[in-house]
Amino acid sequence: MAKNKEDNFEPKIIGFLCKWCGYAGADLAGVSRLEYPANIIPIQVPCTGRIDVQFILEAFKNGADGVLIAGCHTPNDCHYMSGNYKALKRIALLKKLLEQLGIDPRRVRLEWISATEGKKFAEVVKEFVKEIKKLGPLQMR
Ligand code: FES
Repeated sequence: MAKNKEDNFEPKIIGFLCKWCGYAGADLAGVSRLEYPANIIPIQVPCTGRIDVQFILEAFKNGADGVLIAGCHTPNDCHYMSGNYKALKRIALLKKLLEQLGIDPRRVRLEWISATEGKKFAEVVKEFVKEIKKLGPLQMR
């Protein structure tokens, strides 16, 4: 049986992970030996509120096919009070900008993952890799 495009393509995914929640969740997935695709390159950030739109555009410019952002669940969980809320608003605006640039907004995914949710982190990465494989490699204009 012939392989399709999805089988051969291994997307590069940049993960901007908040130190307190998303990154700690990734750590837990690792120490719990949960399996998830190795496509993700994790970058620790102090808070999702620190993520500038420019970081994401640079990631795409430098070869990323998808960007995952993972932070603390609610404004009360965020160590900087409302950084995750700011990220939520920023990412919504970014998705509109991506559409104008001809980049499918599904290439950016924002998730709330706590330090105790290693399983969720592994599941989100699996799902996201699958989705980006379906979208195919990013062709920047
Ligand atoms: Fe985790 Fe702000 S400290 S999102």
